[in-house]
Amino acid sequence: MDVMDAIRKRYSCRSYDNQPVPDKTLRELLEAARLAPSARNLQDWRFVVVTEPEIREKLCKQAIRQEFVQQAPVIIVACSNNPYIMGCGQRIAPIDVAIAMEHLVLAATAKGLGTCWLGAFNPHKVRQILGIPSHIEIVNLLALGRPAKTAKSPDRLPIDHIVCKNRWTF
Ligand SMILES: Cc1cc2nc3c(=O)[nH]c(=O)nc-3n(C[C@H](O)[C@H](O)[C@H](O)COP(=O)(O)O)c2cc1C
Repeated sequence: MDVMDAIRKRYSCRSYDNQPVPDKTLRELLEAARLAPSARNLQDWRFVVVTEPEIREKLCKQAIRQEFVQQAPVIIVACSNNPYIMGCGQRIAPIDVAIAMEHLVLAATAKGLGTCWLGAFNPHKVRQILGIPSHIEIVNLLALGRPAKTAKSPDRLPIDHIVCKNRWTF
């Protein structure tokens, strides 16, 4: 599948069939994340791949009001130990992690798997459950698995609405 096909096909999957994702597939997806760009190539992202049912269940309880997370056979907890702020004033941690996760997400789409980025979760509880040290930032959770049913992305704004040329003309 070419990249544009994967981009068009991806949607936030909120229904999983709970079949395990083979280790080999998981490794290939993590390889896609590993190859992502990062500021100064620091690669300060760390990923906790949760497949054990008891730990998943505990994590699901911290994914606020999102029952579908319970069905996903894999939850990836994306973290960063990068405390730096770039010259532009932006923090590196969430940007690097988001790029790596999107690499993984598109690779998963190309393999027919579904994903959903989760920002609604209790980071303190997730930290406790997984034993993540306090200096590590938990950026997001990602549900991953085989879709039980497909869905469609909500509409996007037209290009002319989000792009201007040469000067800010919005
Ligand atoms: C930073 C971020 C946080 C998100 N958090 C959640 C979440 O907690 N729960 C959820 O169901 N979807 C979450 N989403 C998915 C968005 O709702 C979804 O991407 C958006 O509605 C567009 O739909 P699509 O992904 O199907 O194209 C999140 C997406 C992003 C990028």
